[in-house]
Amino acid sequence: MHKDCERILLTEEQLKARVKEVAEKVDKDFQGKRPLVVGILKGSIIFYADFIRFLSMPIELDFLAVSSYGSGAVSSGKLKIKKDLDRDVKGRDVIIVEDIIDSGFTLANLKALLKERGAASVTIVTLLDKAERREYDIKPDYNCFMIENEFVIGYGLDYDEQYRHLPYIGILKRSVYEK
Ligand code: IMP
Ligand code: MG
Repeated sequence: MHKDCERILLTEEQLKARVKEVAEKVDKDFQGKRPLVVGILKGSIIFYADFIRFLSMPIELDFLAVSSYGSGAVSSGKLKIKKDLDRDVKGRDVIIVEDIIDSGFTLANLKALLKERGAASVTIVTLLDKAERREYDIKPDYNCFMIENEFVIGYGLDYDEQYRHLPYIGILKRSVYEK
């Protein structure tokens, strides 16, 4: 285990088994469709890569990078898009793949944006859900794990751009961000 980890919350095995289970459910529910699968950079990359490999339907891949101001910070009330989609979402079934839903700001805004651009449907798949922290009215359609209000790293998730490549999800030691 990495020295900055308090403890491991989800092991590689647990992640793999649950991601497979959720992906197979999505695959079943979308049979006959050809969704655009949108990964939110960078946090979702590892989950995204594992998730899509369990899908048997035809899909197209696309990515979005956003910056969220969070709830406490000064916010224009709008989401800032750092890298936009390559594809037009008009009339498309869009599956958003996200690492974690915290306040819900990012996904509430993204969902509204994609709808505004004419997506036929917007489905949210998230790896983690910190439901206790929710401030915006948004619910994932598929969630792999509910977690407590703790700062987690690994499997794509970072703290200050570190730890994304850890193969498990761990709880970050408080001493790392409280110093
Ligand atoms: P929201 O817009 O408040 O829902 O924030 C979602 C984003 O905050 C996620 O996409 C993550 O980038 C980040 N985030 C929230 N909680 C954590 C965490 O525990 N570890 C790492 N990133 C987090
Ligand atoms: Mg993120």
